[in-house]
Amino acid sequence: MTRGRFITFEGGEGAGKSTQVRRLVARLQNEGLDVVQTREPGGSPGAEAIRNLVLKGEADRWSPVTETLLMYGARRDHIERTIQPALARGAWVICDRFADSTRAYQGGAGGVEPALISALEAHVLDEVRPDLTLVFDLPVGIGLARAESFANSEGHAETRFESKGVAFHERLRAAFLAIAKAEPNRCALIDASGSMDEVEGQVWTTVSDRLVVHG
Ligand code: TMP
Repeated sequence: MTRGRFITFEGGEGAGKSTQVRRLVARLQNEGLDVVQTREPGGSPGAEAIRNLVLKGEADRWSPVTETLLMYGARRDHIERTIQPALARGAWVICDRFADSTRAYQGGAGGVEPALISALEAHVLDEVRPDLTLVFDLPVGIGLARAESFANSEGHAETRFESKGVAFHERLRAAFLAIAKAEPNRCALIDASGSMDEVEGQVWTTVSDRLVVHG
């Protein structure tokens, strides 16, 4: 049995990642693949409990270093209980956010030392690295407006991160762009400003160009 493939979706708020995760999962299942759809923070019962702690409350409830440690606690549980077992049985794992979100939100935008984040990556990820990362890029104003209208239409309050202000989100966008530029073999930039169908087309072209897709 060959190891499955691990694809992560990354980017700022309101980029439409979650819709595109669902669409990609459906297309891969159509190809006959065993596919696991998951997300961070979360993706296992323990990590979902940490998600509730970290995303709710006042914007300054946790310092960026504490957030980093909570994200890595959640990530380790998710890796051990969901991601590794799925990859080991040959499934494709499609994950809405992963380690790049910590680099961008807590590191680039939040100011946590890159050395702390690199050390956590080295010790905690345990060789679990994405085969492909799709970095959704969108001007900050459009992303925040989309995230706000989604929160209103769904009747839930914005998360702690959506309420952090435009300067934070500009640093965040720059951090994701820098990651994509630094690791072009793993990362592909997706222009998320188009319609859902246009973005779905870009995602599918990228996945089928970079990975061999068949069941
Ligand atoms: P989402 O479900 O909209 O992606 O919300 C998850 C939030 O958590 C989002 O605002 C980004 C944030 N986050 C971090 O700050 N660091 C991380 O490592 C991860 C995975 C998410």
